[in-house]
Amino acid sequence: MTEDGYVVTMHRIPHGRYKRNATEPRPVVFLQHCILCSSSVFVLMGPQKGLGFILADKGYDVWLGNARGSVYSRDHNQISTSDPKYWRFSWHEMGVYDLPAEINYILGKTNQSKLYYIGHSMGTTMMYVLLSVKPEYNNKIRLFVSLSPVAYMSHMRSTLFRVLYGPLGQLLSQAGLHEFIPNSEMVTEMASQLCKSQAITQSICSNILFLIAGYDSSQLNKTMLPVIFGQIPAGTSTNSLVHYGQSMQTGDFRWFDHGSKGNMKLYRTKRAPAYNLKNVIAPISFFHSENDWLADPKDVFKLSRKLPNLVASYQIPLPSFNHMDFLFANDVKKLVYNKLLSQLPNY
Ligand SMILES: *[C@@H]1O[C@H](CO)[C@@H](O)[C@H](O)[C@H]1NC(C)=O
Ligand SMILES: *[C@@H]1O[C@H](CO)[C@@H](O)[C@H](O)[C@H]1NC(C)=O
Repeated sequence: MTEDGYVVTMHRIPHGRYKRNATEPRPVVFLQHCILCSSSVFVLMGPQKGLGFILADKGYDVWLGNARGSVYSRDHNQISTSDPKYWRFSWHEMGVYDLPAEINYILGKTNQSKLYYIGHSMGTTMMYVLLSVKPEYNNKIRLFVSLSPVAYMSHMRSTLFRVLYGPLGQLLSQAGLHEFIPNSEMVTEMASQLCKSQAITQSICSNILFLIAGYDSSQLNKTMLPVIFGQIPAGTSTNSLVHYGQSMQTGDFRWFDHGSKGNMKLYRTKRAPAYNLKNVIAPISFFHSENDWLADPKDVFKLSRKLPNLVASYQIPLPSFNHMDFLFANDVKKLVYNKLLSQLPNY
C-alpha cells in the first residue's frame, strides 16, 4: 500500500529455468512499464524474448511493477475506482508514491539495500519524478536503465498520442471521464478477433501500433498482435495523458499544472514547479532510437544534458527501431537486451 492509500500489485519471477544455488544472494531487478501498459508487456513475448524471463533465466530476482489505475492495480483502502477522486493522479503520483512503496517492499522482502531499475517510457518518467522529488531514493538504485527515456516531450512525433495527450485528454477531463479505457474482457475479445492472422482487419492492428510507436514492419511479429492488443491498453487516468500533454506544450518537465489559481493554492507559484533533475544522481543508462516517435532523439538529447550521472547512452543500431520495439521486436535480444545485460553484474 502506498502512503496515499493506493494498493498496487507487483508480480515476481523469483527463479528462472536454470536452477541456481538458492542461498546465494541474487541481485534484484525491478521493471516498470509504459503508459496504458501493465507488467504483462515484459513477459507476453514469451521466454525467448520477454525481458522478465530473460533476466530470470540469467539468475536475477525479477520484480514487475503495475502503476496505479492499470489493470492489476485498481485498489485503494478507502476510495473505489467508480469515485472520480480515485482518478486524481498522473505519473507524478506513480513516481512519488507507487515507486517508493514498491521499492521498500522489494528491499524488505529480499533483505537488500539497493536494486537495479529498468523502466520503459512512462516507467522512466516515474523514476525521474521520484529521484528529483525524493532524492533519498537515489541511494537505493544501483543503476537506472532507461529504455526510451521520456521527460521532455516537445518533439513527440506520434499523431495519435498528440491528440490523446492534447485535445482529447482535455476533452475527457472536462467531460468528467477521469479513467481512460480500462482493459476489459470485451476489448480483449475484440482485439483477438480483429488482430488474428486470418482476419482481413489485422492490418488495422499493426497500423495502430505503428501510429503510436513509429513505422517498423520488419521487427513486428503480426502473429503476436492478438496477444499484444489483448493486454494493451491496460488503463490509466486521464490526468496521466493530460500531464504528458502539458509537457508537450511547455517543452518543460514540470509538476501537474492545475491552472494559475490551483497552482497558487498547491505550489504557491502561478506556474507548476519544474522537476529538479540536478537531484537525479543515481547512475543512468539510456537506450534510445532514431525512429522512436514518443521519445524523439532531440528530447532524449535534451534530457541527457540535464542529468548529472548519465553513465551510458546507446542508440539502437537499426534506424527503423520504434518505441514498442523495445518490448516486442523480433530481434530485441540481439539489438537491445544483450547490451543491457552487459551493464548488469555478471555474477
Ligand atoms: C551455495 O552458496 C553458499 C554461499 O555462497 C555456499 O556456502 C554453499 O556451499 C553453496 N552450496 C552449493 C551446493 O554449491
Ligand atoms: C512470431 O510469433 C509466433 C508465435 O509466438 C512464433 O511461433 C514465431 O516464431 C514468431 N516469429 C518470429 C519471426 O519471431
